[in-house]
Amino acid sequence: MPASRPQPRPGVLDIEAYVPGKSKAPGVAKIYKLSSNETPLGPSPKAIAAYRQVAEHLEDYPDGAASDLREAIGRAFGLDPDRIVCGAGSDDLLNLLARAYLADGDEAIYTTHGFLVYPIATLGAGAKPVVAPEKNFTADVDAILAALTPKTKLVFLANPNNPTGTYLPFDEVQRLRRALPENVLLVLDAAYAEYVRRNDYESGLELVATSDNTVMCRTFSKIYGLAALRLGWLYGPAHVVDALNRIRGPFNINQPAIAAGVAAIEDTAHVQASAAHNARWLPWLTEEIRKLGLEVTPSAANFVLIHFPKDKGRTAKEADVFLTARGLILRRLEPYRLPGALRLTVGSEEANRLVVDALAQFMGAAA
Ligand SMILES: Cc1ncc(COP(=O)(O)O)c(C=O)c1O
Repeated sequence: MPASRPQPRPGVLDIEAYVPGKSKAPGVAKIYKLSSNETPLGPSPKAIAAYRQVAEHLEDYPDGAASDLREAIGRAFGLDPDRIVCGAGSDDLLNLLARAYLADGDEAIYTTHGFLVYPIATLGAGAKPVVAPEKNFTADVDAILAALTPKTKLVFLANPNNPTGTYLPFDEVQRLRRALPENVLLVLDAAYAEYVRRNDYESGLELVATSDNTVMCRTFSKIYGLAALRLGWLYGPAHVVDALNRIRGPFNINQPAIAAGVAAIEDTAHVQASAAHNARWLPWLTEEIRKLGLEVTPSAANFVLIHFPKDKGRTAKEADVFLTARGLILRRLEPYRLPGALRLTVGSEEANRLVVDALAQFMGAAA
């Protein structure tokens, strides 16, 4: 590359750009997009109405402090709104954290099959992503601790994790926090927290409230069904909130998103209906797919990780081609170091039944 032209900072060209889930199947009339962990129930009708109302006033800047939204989140979760930062999706917040807390040469730890935005945000900040091995597709606290060096500044932990669906019980998260040095910021990414039905799980609100070095990110993209609007929030210690507010875009979230977010979080019946739908279909999909002889990693979220055999005719890649031809779009996972698996989002009843039927045909046809 000629030195005479502008050069991105070191690390930027090492980034493998994020590839979102496919949404097209050429030549197929009806598509079931099960590749991005979106909710099959869509957003609350009240959120759609609130969004439409703002369409009458697109000439006005949004409220840069997102006060109404932070207050609505505060009411819903019993939190101080001053300790909340909103972002254009939790992606925005993860990138802000990396920019605020990582300098050139610093290190950020994430786990083998952790969410891909973590290494992207780390490299983009000029720092080094360090991979901590997982056990049974699950984050391993001891491995994270073994990866620490004096240069570690951040630890990213998705709980539950995408794309594996596995989670760490809260006592393990607490053990991790206790063992991390005080200057290391622990980022708990609880994008799927609303789906989890496990007695030993907590998203980390209490831990954030009582420590000076832990933050939690949440999103409106999953159970609230507002992925298109790009909306997420973070709860953190006051000094972290202060740092992020200094570097975030002054209008980083837009007014239609603020209005829809407030209505979405207040429509608790809709959130409960989405959680109940998931609680019914997640175990059903897990069991039905296992009955076909495929291994499914136990998931606490709104998707399952399906492992395919290596035999010709039965691989994940061939299953993806087979399903896509039938309009069923799942997520390929090569970038997540899982080339032998596909990730399936819990869909509508119709989509779930179609996937199981198609997988039965695929496994039968290959026999
Ligand atoms: C673990 C995890 N964190 C964060 C996100 C990003 O969500 P958002 O749409 O809020 O940027 C996702 C989305 O797939 C995710 O799986």
